[in-house]
Amino acid sequence: MTKPAAKIAVNGRNAELKTLTGTIGPDVVDISALYKDTGVFTYDPGFSSTASCESKITYIDGDEGVLLHRGYPIEQLAEKGDFLETCYLLLYGELPTEREKADFNHRVTHHTMVHEQMSRFLSGFRRDAHPMAIMVGSVGALSAFYHDSTDIADPHQRMVASIRMIAKTPTLGAMAYKYHVGQPFVYPQNHLSYSENFLNMCFSVPCEKYEINPVLARAMDRIFILHADHEQNASTSTVRLAGSSGANPFACIAAGIACLWGPAHGGANEAALNMLGEIGTKDRIPEFINRAKDKNDPFRLMGFGHRVYKNYDPRAKIMQQTCHEVLDELGIKDDPLLEVALELEQIALHDPYFIEKKLYPNVDFYSGITLKALGFPTNMFTVLFAVARTVGWIAQWKEMIEDPHQRIGRPRQLYTGEPRRDFLPIDQRG
Ligand code: SDX
Repeated sequence: MTKPAAKIAVNGRNAELKTLTGTIGPDVVDISALYKDTGVFTYDPGFSSTASCESKITYIDGDEGVLLHRGYPIEQLAEKGDFLETCYLLLYGELPTEREKADFNHRVTHHTMVHEQMSRFLSGFRRDAHPMAIMVGSVGALSAFYHDSTDIADPHQRMVASIRMIAKTPTLGAMAYKYHVGQPFVYPQNHLSYSENFLNMCFSVPCEKYEINPVLARAMDRIFILHADHEQNASTSTVRLAGSSGANPFACIAAGIACLWGPAHGGANEAALNMLGEIGTKDRIPEFINRAKDKNDPFRLMGFGHRVYKNYDPRAKIMQQTCHEVLDELGIKDDPLLEVALELEQIALHDPYFIEKKLYPNVDFYSGITLKALGFPTNMFTVLFAVARTVGWIAQWKEMIEDPHQRIGRPRQLYTGEPRRDFLPIDQRG
């Protein structure tokens, strides 16, 4: 729907800019002609007010705490669906029929193995390498194995690369864990579901049979669903920008993993659990709340706040429910970290600072407690996030490649450096 143009007058020059309307959510002003018409750039370093692309995959309403994947609410997908069904939805745009689901599951299942040389590739890492360092390296290394068959201009090969990525990141994530704990790698088992297979590759050992707990496997599957995609977050934007140059998709996903690792983004689940451990007991919560409010203290409450959600992150609610289910199933009563987390949440949600800045728990706040209870060490939490987010990255990468208006992303800048000056001979410097 066409709306009245946005008019801008700057430095004595005028521009009329198209206003575009989506299905739901804010309109956008198309500023692509702004520099040509006025000679100025826009300036938005954190992209708080900038839409980088048009997308049909995920919609977030931060004020209402709404998250839709292809129009379906995250609450319904997490409760009624499974992770591979969500992967199909994100990739193809519709929920699969019975036959489509069986075919998709079969294709993913039969791509879960990685080239045997990957096990030797991992042996080049230090024994104490952070599993995320191994994930960045090993996913990037996959580009060496498929570079000659990843013609991104061919829709069939784009879909094969997508299936390979979704299928192989759990195997590589489990290998990163096994390498870190010094246990033998466990091969994928095709009779297991995606999440059962991941738990088996992580926790089974050759010496004894590993019994998969269906409640825990369902919880793992739901955690994957909650982390699958999230609009144009930092790591997805990284994948889109890397992909806009036509780079190998495996290399683009490796770039996304690198970005996700940061504590302000996917690394927050590891940082949040470490923070809960540092707080230790409920009586120390006020000390940390005060530190979080102190402008001179870089400390932030990890797992709180969000660039988009200025209400409760809908994923955090589902994660909290999942956390209780897992702890109940494992008979973990009075988990001290959960006690601290619940009390911290209550205090923060009633504190004027957090209310005024609209800081609510995000997806990372309860995930750490849940993942720790499932048996994962803290440094594996972001690996799990990366395994789940791979489908979101690859779906967004595909959408970008298939956009007929797609061009290489190349932002400009506000230059505040030195004006032109001539080279100084060394005896005239200083
Ligand atoms: C994820 O984008 C996505 O969708 C990401 C994600 C996804 O699925 O891809 O949802 C996953 O990354 C979730 C976020 C995980 N990160 C954390 O939990 C780390 C702690 N949170 C903060 O670092 C912060 O809230 C961010 C990074 C999440 C958001 O940062 P913004 O949008 O840049 O907000 P900001 O830093 O400008 O903060 C606004 C104000 C500031 O105070 P003022 O300068 O206005 O006085 O709120 C304060 C901040 O100091 N603030 C916090 C806080 N988060 C923001 N104060 C204390 N503790 C916090 N956690």
